[in-house]
Amino acid sequence: MKKILAILTIVFCFGVTAAFAVDGAELYKTRCAKCHRDGTESSKAGGGVVLKGQSAEEIEMKLNGYLEGSYGGAKKKTMARVLKKFSPEELKAMAAHICTL
Ligand code: HEC
Repeated sequence: MKKILAILTIVFCFGVTAAFAVDGAELYKTRCAKCHRDGTESSKAGGGVVLKGQSAEEIEMKLNGYLEGSYGGAKKKTMARVLKKFSPEELKAMAAHICTL
């Protein structure tokens, strides 16, 4: 059952990722990986959060939450500062990419 779910997640994420004009994978690598590594862990500056295993919707909700000030923990200002530089489409593309990690 777990295997089937994993396969479904991959197929679903792939479909979502392919729909974007901006490259979420490239953005993640250059702008997020410094703190969030490959998504299975985060550096100290990354607050120790694990991004892998979260759905695109979940990530997008959290990213928007940081921007609106409605989501986050002790280090939420770090994320709000990072995210201010992205367009909504770029945020969506990165969320879709994180889903495939
Ligand atoms: C300077 C380090 C740094 C960079 C760069 C960074 N983050 Fe973060 N990120 C953090 C910290 C610290 C937290 C925990 C903040 C808190 O206390 O809520 C976090 C939390 C998150 C969370 C919430 C995780 C959860 O489950 O609560 C998401 C999603 C996230 N980051 C995505 C991104 C994306 C996408 C990028 C690239 C645009 C990025 N981050 C770049 C430091 C960083």
